[in-house]
Amino acid sequence: MKIDLTVNGKRASLDAEPRLLLVHALRDELGLTGTHVGCDTSSCGACTVLLDGVSVKSCTVFAVQAHGHDVTTIEGIGNAAELHPMQEAFWSSHGLQCGYCTTGMIVSAVDLLKRNPDPSDDEIRAGLEGNLCRCTGYENIVKSVRVAAKAMREHAPLHSVRDLMPIHPPAETPPPSGEGILTPALEEAMT
Ligand code: FES
Ligand code: FES
Repeated sequence: MKIDLTVNGKRASLDAEPRLLLVHALRDELGLTGTHVGCDTSSCGACTVLLDGVSVKSCTVFAVQAHGHDVTTIEGIGNAAELHPMQEAFWSSHGLQCGYCTTGMIVSAVDLLKRNPDPSDDEIRAGLEGNLCRCTGYENIVKSVRVAAKAMREHAPLHSVRDLMPIHPPAETPPPSGEGILTPALEEAMT
C-alpha cells in the first residue's frame, strides 16, 4: 500500500506492506538510522519518535498508521551543525555512554519538556520511564534534561516541537577539543 507522510518537515511516500513497522520504514526505507531498535518488544524506547508531536515507540506503530501524519525523528530534532539544546545538554552533561538509547531518550525528553517545561527530577524520571539505558547512566540523563530545561525556559518559548528547534546559531567551526562550544545559556545552566 502506498503511504504518504511528512517526516522531519518533508513529504515522503513509500510502498509499505501492512505489517511493516514504522521503525523499519524510517530506518530501511527512508535511511533515518538515528532511530534505533533495541528490543522489538516495546520495552526499551530506543525507537521513540514524535508522531504528530507526541512521543511514540515506533516499533509499536505500523507504517500505514502514519499515513497522512507528521513524524519527527532525532534527525529532525537537530543535527551536528545545529544541535538542539537537549542534544547539547546530553553532550555537555555526559548524558550518554554507548549512545544506543540516547536518541530515544532525547526525543522523549523533548516531548516531556513540551508538556512540562520545569520538571522536578522525579518528574523527569517518570517522564522517561519508558526509556531504558543498558549503560545505566540515569543520573547524568536526568541532569541533562534538567540543564536543557533551564536553558530552554530562559531562552526559548515552548509552544510546539518546531519552537524547540535550535535556539542559537551554529558555531562556524566547532573546535575539535570541545572547548568553547557551549552556549552562554548552557554555561550558566551548568553552574
Ligand atoms: Fe521499540 Fe525497544 S525497539 S521499544
Ligand atoms: Fe548505552 Fe544508554 S548510553 S544504552
